[in-house]
Amino acid sequence: MPDDVPKVPTVGELMSSPVITALPDDTVAEASTRMRDHGVGSVVVVDGERVIGILTERDLVRWGAAGVDPGASKVAEWMTADPDVVSPDTGVQVAYDGLSSHGYRHIPVVEGDRLVGIVSMRDLLRIAAIQPVVHPSTIEAPPGLEGVIVADTEVGDVRGLEGFYHYRQYNAVELADKRRLEDVWHLLIDGHLPSAAEREAFLAETRPLRAVPAPVAEVLPAIAAGSKSIMEAVRTAVSLVGAVEGYRPTLDIDAAERRRNALQLCAVIPTLITSVYRLQAGQEPIAPRDDLGYGANYLFMMDGQEHDPEKGRGVEQYQMTTIDHGFNASTFTARVITSTGADVAAAVVGGIGALSGPLHGGAPSRALDLLDAIGTVENARPYLVQAVTEGEKIMGFGHRVYKTDDPRSVFLRGVAERIGAEKITFAKVVEQTVVDVLAELKPGRNLYANVEFYAGVVMDHCGLARELFTPTFASSRVIGWCANILEQAADNRIIRPSARYVGTPPPVPVPDEA
Ligand SMILES: CC(C)(COP(=O)(O)OP(=O)(O)OC[C@H]1O[C@@H](n2cnc3c(N)ncnc32)[C@H](O)[C@@H]1OP(=O)(O)O)[C@@H](O)C(=O)NCCC(=O)NCCS
Repeated sequence: MPDDVPKVPTVGELMSSPVITALPDDTVAEASTRMRDHGVGSVVVVDGERVIGILTERDLVRWGAAGVDPGASKVAEWMTADPDVVSPDTGVQVAYDGLSSHGYRHIPVVEGDRLVGIVSMRDLLRIAAIQPVVHPSTIEAPPGLEGVIVADTEVGDVRGLEGFYHYRQYNAVELADKRRLEDVWHLLIDGHLPSAAEREAFLAETRPLRAVPAPVAEVLPAIAAGSKSIMEAVRTAVSLVGAVEGYRPTLDIDAAERRRNALQLCAVIPTLITSVYRLQAGQEPIAPRDDLGYGANYLFMMDGQEHDPEKGRGVEQYQMTTIDHGFNASTFTARVITSTGADVAAAVVGGIGALSGPLHGGAPSRALDLLDAIGTVENARPYLVQAVTEGEKIMGFGHRVYKTDDPRSVFLRGVAERIGAEKITFAKVVEQTVVDVLAELKPGRNLYANVEFYAGVVMDHCGLARELFTPTFASSRVIGWCANILEQAADNRIIRPSARYVGTPPPVPVPDEA
């Protein structure tokens, strides 16, 4: 233990002395006056120096309520006889536990039979160290909260051992295969797949929301110029959308207003992403088009070109596979922020921040960088053996929940094959080599390609620059965040876990200013 760690304080160091006392034959009125005059909450009742009772403010309240003759009541009749006592060398934690378990607020301090002081709950609580640190219901969570269930949800789930995930009651991969993105968006926000009429109404509602609000569009060039990455700029711009559109705390608004805010952010974020991308390249933003599908419009806003429909569909399918994925870090972040009652933009900004980290959404461009660094089929094994031996994490591999093939990776590998992505053949060789090398060098960890490995291959083929990879992940994950935000706000309790303090035991006396 370091030298500056103090020993646990004792009751003797904290107690008040001398003690205000009373005799058993004193009247309660006299004792009460003495307590008031000395500003104390109790008097210790003594016989000589021996403690025989304690009379507290609580006893006085009982006495007052009984309406008895003040001059006639004796202390002996109203005191607590033979109270618990402690010795001066008792540690404050022990004394605190004794007081709190019995509900006492004062405890006389005795040395042998002799009264030497009194200590109150308030004195003990002044010593931060004796605050109860372990609540009986405290549950230890594993590092990274792995496997801990923290909420009920109807949005979706991931079954890691089976390699399966779903949006509401549907297999997410099947949705990405069969439906358009807006249908899944409707499913997540409104709870069911739309009928044809509902789809038209949903499109009519959301299309105008794709426009960047004028006050944001005005300052977007400055935001884009002042940010190092698209994610940074979009994070700032989303915050501004919430401000200029007057978003109010989720706690203060009804479900319809929360849904409107959520739909606007889901709709405008793809426009913000492509606008910032263009502005950073010195080009003017391009407004969305109503006649294009979701992915095709995204590509159009990026470069003003009409692309091969297969590419538009490829991007859209990637976006659909990444809409939601259980209680991942960014979704959890968005729910925590919502649980405080903050507005929808605040929660989405938090989600963007969490997603930007390389351990979460920041990896797809790194996975492609890996393919470049390996370069040739012959180099794959030696390169990977060296990297893993040196303790590097291979980007695009491994997952907290999947201990088998990530279904998103399997699906996107198929998409990459279907659209004839240039890098697909090489990527498949590298994938197999990584899996083999990790099985040899990290046995039992069950490491496979995650969503980000083939995401990079698909997006690259569809013409997306690498700096757009993570933002494109965000362009659709915002829908999952918003579904979770709405669910959290509809049935909320603030998310507020605890931590175990493991630093130097307090209180270390604060040194005087130098
Ligand atoms: C996704 C990820 C963050 C999950 O992290 P996690 O659940 O905390 O898993 P851990 O980091 O504890 O990994 C468990 C073991 O597998 C190893 N491992 C995990 N992913 C690995 C990877 N991509 N390359 C090499 N080893 C890896 C770890 O080194 C660890 O080995 P150890 O038991 O010798 O310490 C992690 O696999 C990773 O960093 N992957 C690369 C980044 C990436 O692709 N992110 C996108 C996620 S969709």
